[in-house]
Amino acid sequence: MKELFVAAENEIADGGRKVVATGGVEIGVFRSDGNYYAWRNECPHQGGPVCQGVMTRKVEERLDGERKSSGIHYAADGHRNIVCPWHGYEFDMKTGRHVGHAATRLRGYQVKVRDGAVYVVLPA
Ligand code: FES
Repeated sequence: MKELFVAAENEIADGGRKVVATGGVEIGVFRSDGNYYAWRNECPHQGGPVCQGVMTRKVEERLDGERKSSGIHYAADGHRNIVCPWHGYEFDMKTGRHVGHAATRLRGYQVKVRDGAVYVVLPA
């Protein structure tokens, strides 16, 4: 395994991201609630630069006990999604899954934090 240096920990603010490139591949590293998530910057739809899209709070519809909608709300946990800038496909930042079609997902990488620096683990 090879590790790619991404940034010093304090370089990526919570809610922020950094896109790095290596060997013709771009990888977006996101920080949310102190955790890091890394995804290939290539949308599974048509290859758009998904990691450079808007980050938006997850939206959910709340239902009452009779399954009647009480409207659309932002998720209370502050969870965020990434929106591909080309056609608007929306992916869960933590899982990489498309919000409406779980089989459509981003390609992920393991992230390591060591001695104040963030690395992405590249496949051999
Ligand atoms: S390429 Fe990402 S939504 Fe189409």
